[in-house]
Amino acid sequence: MSRPNSPFPIAIGPSVLSADFLRLGEQLTEIEQAGADYIHFDVMDGRFVPNISIGLPVLEATRRGTSLPIDVHLMIVEPGRWVDDFQSAGADSMTFHIEAASHAHRVVESIVGSGMRTGVALNPATPISAIEELIPHIHRVLVMTVNPGFGGQSFVASMPDKIRRLRETIDRVNPECAIQVDGGINSTTIARVVEAGATSIVAGSSVINGEASIARNIAALRAAISSQVSTVDASELK
Ligand code: DX5
Ligand code: ZN
Repeated sequence: MSRPNSPFPIAIGPSVLSADFLRLGEQLTEIEQAGADYIHFDVMDGRFVPNISIGLPVLEATRRGTSLPIDVHLMIVEPGRWVDDFQSAGADSMTFHIEAASHAHRVVESIVGSGMRTGVALNPATPISAIEELIPHIHRVLVMTVNPGFGGQSFVASMPDKIRRLRETIDRVNPECAIQVDGGINSTTIARVVEAGATSIVAGSSVINGEASIARNIAALRAAISSQVSTVDASELK
């Protein structure tokens, strides 16, 4: 999900899980001015993952605080129950976990039917084969590069190989489908995932932190991939 006029072929979506919620509006403005492509919004229920994060009221506030697309990442059980509520609160796209859905095709239909773009996420231990039947019907596969539940974790080093295999499948079955990554992305790991075939990058603690401005951190991520993207056909990326 790149902005239509984005000059960058690889989309970057800062995760507001790393935000200072007392200053959320201010930080959303900084993110937008820094040229991010979308906002990544992590919802955790304390059941699918061992943590509870943010939900509908914060999404409504986020919607008022940015004109960027909002990408909701549901880390919750029974994701199909919540599609309409999150759409009404401001989501433009919705990704759910294959491990959390007994009737994943129905959830995809429901997300698409509500006018959103749809993604399906895979935990590090979940094989690509678990979502192969869904790839023709979705806009994005999210390859988790950490076990979901917390910001600031270390990148799982074996994930670029999985991304490479997924890239082959997607190119064959639905080349329009984006490959998104989430977890442990910084200026070192971003080069590995882009080189493997990822086109949409979520980054939390490497973008929103007390070490440098959001603009500087996003620029550092873009600089780290500039050598790769010049060799990629931009028309294939989103
Ligand atoms: C983790 C969340 C991520 C998180 C990423 O379960 O899905 O979106 O915010 O944070 P970093 O980039 O710090 O790993
Ligand atoms: Zn996420």
